[in-house]
Amino acid sequence: LTGQVDDLRAYALQLLEATTLEGKLAAARGDWPDADRRVVRLPDRPARPPGLEPAEGGAKLPPLEGLPDPAQRARLLHGWFNHELQAVELFAWALLSFPDAPDAFRRGLLTLLEDEQRHARLYVQRLAAHGHAPGDFPVSAYLWNKRGLMDTPLRFVAAMCLTFENANLDHTLDAATAARDAGDPETAEVLERVHAEELTHVAFGLRWLERFKDDDTPMVDAWQEALGWPLRPALARGPVLHVDCRRRLGMSEAFVDVLQEAAR
Ligand SMILES: [Fe+2]
Ligand SMILES: [Fe+2]
Repeated sequence: LTGQVDDLRAYALQLLEATTLEGKLAAARGDWPDADRRVVRLPDRPARPPGLEPAEGGAKLPPLEGLPDPAQRARLLHGWFNHELQAVELFAWALLSFPDAPDAFRRGLLTLLEDEQRHARLYVQRLAAHGHAPGDFPVSAYLWNKRGLMDTPLRFVAAMCLTFENANLDHTLDAATAARDAGDPETAEVLERVHAEELTHVAFGLRWLERFKDDDTPMVDAWQEALGWPLRPALARGPVLHVDCRRRLGMSEAFVDVLQEAAR
């Protein structure tokens, strides 16, 4: 990062404007101030390193069943890497979009952003172990294109943390099992680590939905009311719903029931 970045706003902006992977994954400094809350005109799409511009019409990932095949596994790793990169960009977008949100919420967004940077790096390492690098396969802007449905802090945590990251709890566990079965324990360990950290992201979503919603509205109702189509409970889970980890997060039985009924 260049020398003039010395607060959260400038940092978030720089992440969206970075044209190198190092720029996208550049570390923040915990002691940066968060005083500059000026509204900024945001780009329609973030700048991307060469080769990582989203493909027109998106990019389809192989199904998890393809993971035993190293060639398909590399495509999956690349897709997961791109999800993490989009998450980095969306948390930066949220920092810039919600200047009036509580300080603790904004500091939390930064912590989650740093986790997503670490996840992206871990997938890059696994990609390298398969002889590939970021940009080797087409990528989508699936998450970024949903940001219009996340136009308030409440809707952001409902969509990002309690839908996409919620679903990732299942995807990472199922993929870890598949990777271990395929004889790739290193990839399994990365997926399990990402899973463990995504748990804290879903917990962040639950904590702040509780804070942002009306006192009288149950959590599960507040969540569903905040989702704009095509976001829906079915997108908050994988093909197999791992219930235990949700319960450990303190997700209500009513919430778990909605996920269970929302089979994909
Ligand atoms: Fe992540
Ligand atoms: Fe996350």
